[in-house]
Amino acid sequence: MGAFRFFSAGESHGPGLTAYVEGLPAGLEISEAYIREDLARRQKGYGRGKRQQIETDFAKITSGVRHGVTIGGPISMFIENTDFSTGKGPDGVLWTDEMSVEPSDVPYEKITKLRPGHADTPGIVKYAQDDARNILERSSARESAARVAAGALARTFLNQLGIQVFSHVSALGSVNSEADINRIDWPSVESSQLRCADPEAESKMIKEIDSAREEGDSLGGVFEVIGYNLPIGLGSHTQWDKKLSSRLAASVMSINAVKGVEFGAGFEQAKMRGSAVHDVIIPIEEWDTGEELEFPKPWPRRSNNSGGLEGGMTTGEPLIVRAMVKPIATIMNALETVDLNTGEKVEKAHYERSDITFVPTCAVIGEAMVMMVVADAILEKFGGDHIKETKKNLTTYLKSAGPRG
Ligand SMILES: Cc1cc2nc3c(=O)[nH]c(=O)nc-3n(C[C@H](O)[C@H](O)[C@H](O)COP(=O)(O)O)c2cc1C
Repeated sequence: MGAFRFFSAGESHGPGLTAYVEGLPAGLEISEAYIREDLARRQKGYGRGKRQQIETDFAKITSGVRHGVTIGGPISMFIENTDFSTGKGPDGVLWTDEMSVEPSDVPYEKITKLRPGHADTPGIVKYAQDDARNILERSSARESAARVAAGALARTFLNQLGIQVFSHVSALGSVNSEADINRIDWPSVESSQLRCADPEAESKMIKEIDSAREEGDSLGGVFEVIGYNLPIGLGSHTQWDKKLSSRLAASVMSINAVKGVEFGAGFEQAKMRGSAVHDVIIPIEEWDTGEELEFPKPWPRRSNNSGGLEGGMTTGEPLIVRAMVKPIATIMNALETVDLNTGEKVEKAHYERSDITFVPTCAVIGEAMVMMVVADAILEKFGGDHIKETKKNLTTYLKSAGPRG
C-alpha cells in the first residue's frame, strides 16, 4: 500500500487497539456510529465465543476528522478492550496486572504448553521469549477489529465513487452454499446468522457447528468478497507488486487462519478448457444504450471467470475474491503438545476461551482488506486531495475509456 496506508497496534488483552489510516482525501463524511456498524458485523455469527458478547466494539476517532468530515490528515482510532479493566486471565490474574505496561509484582502463570496451529512455537523461538502470551497477545485475531474500523473508512470513500463491497459465507465445514453469486440478496445475508445466502445450507451449517461444539472441536470454511462498479484499469501489469491481483491476495492472506485465495472461477479453471474460461468482450451494439451514466462501464464481458481481474488489472466486471480459512486451532478437546522448557510431551495444549467457528467474521474482515486495497489503487490512479477532485478525475477517465470512435 502506498497511496492509502493502514497500520494497527495493540494486544488482545491490553487496554485496546489503535488503527492508523493515511491517504484518504478531505471532504468525506465519517461518523463513529457508521464505523460501529461494521464493527458490530464483525462480532456477529453463530459459533463465536463469549468474548463477542462481552465486547461491544467502538472506535473512537482521535484525529483527521473535524465536525464529521475528513480534513485530509491521518485518521487514528482507538478501540477499547472493555475486558481489560475488570477481566481476569485464565490464571485468575487481573488483565491490568497480567498485561501491565509497568513491571508488576503480581505473580502470574507463564504459558509454556505451546498451542499447535498458532504463532506460539515459531514466535517464542524467534523473539526469544519464555511466555507464549508475549506472542499470542499480538498474533490474536482481536487485531482484526482495527482492520474492520479502517475498512469502514475505505468503504465511505469507495461508496462516494459508486463502488460497493459485500461478502458472504460460501462454505462452512462440509456444507456448501448453493446461492447463485449473481442473485445474492445482500440484506438477507446481513440478517443471516452465518452470512449465508442459502437458508437451507445455513440450517445444515448450524447443525454442523452444534455437533463440532459437542465434540469439543472446531470448523473452517470459505468466504467470498464481491466488489461492484470498480472502474476498468485499477492496478497494473507492469511490475509484480503493482498487480492488483497480487495485492489483493496478499492482503486477504494476511488475515489470521486464511490459507488460500482465488479469484472468479479460481482453481476450477484448471479443469476447464480455455474456450470455456476466458471472458468474451461484448460488442458495443449490445450494451450502449446512449444513456449518460455518472460512472460508465465500457467493455463488458459475457462471463466473469476471471473474477474481474486480467493482467493484474480490473476489467470493470465484479471483483470476486474467495478465501479458505482453516478450522480454529484452539479446541476444547485440546491437542497433545510439548512444554517449552522441557520439550516433553504434555497431554493438552494451553486452552484459552475460543470460538467454534468464525467464517462469517472472516468474511467481514475480508471485505475490509479488499476495500483498503481497492481504495489504495483508486488513489494511486486518480489521486485527489478532496473527494470532489478524486471523483472528477475518475469520471473524466471513464468518459474516455470506451471505444475510441
Ligand atoms: C476473526 C478470527 C477469530 C479467530 N478466533 C480464534 C479463536 O477463537 N481460537 C483460535 O484458536 N483461533 C482463532 N483464530 C485463528 C487464529 O488467530 C490463527 O489461526 C492463528 O493466529 C495462527 O495463524 P495462521 O492460522 O494464520 O497460521 C481466529 C481468526 C480470526 C480471523
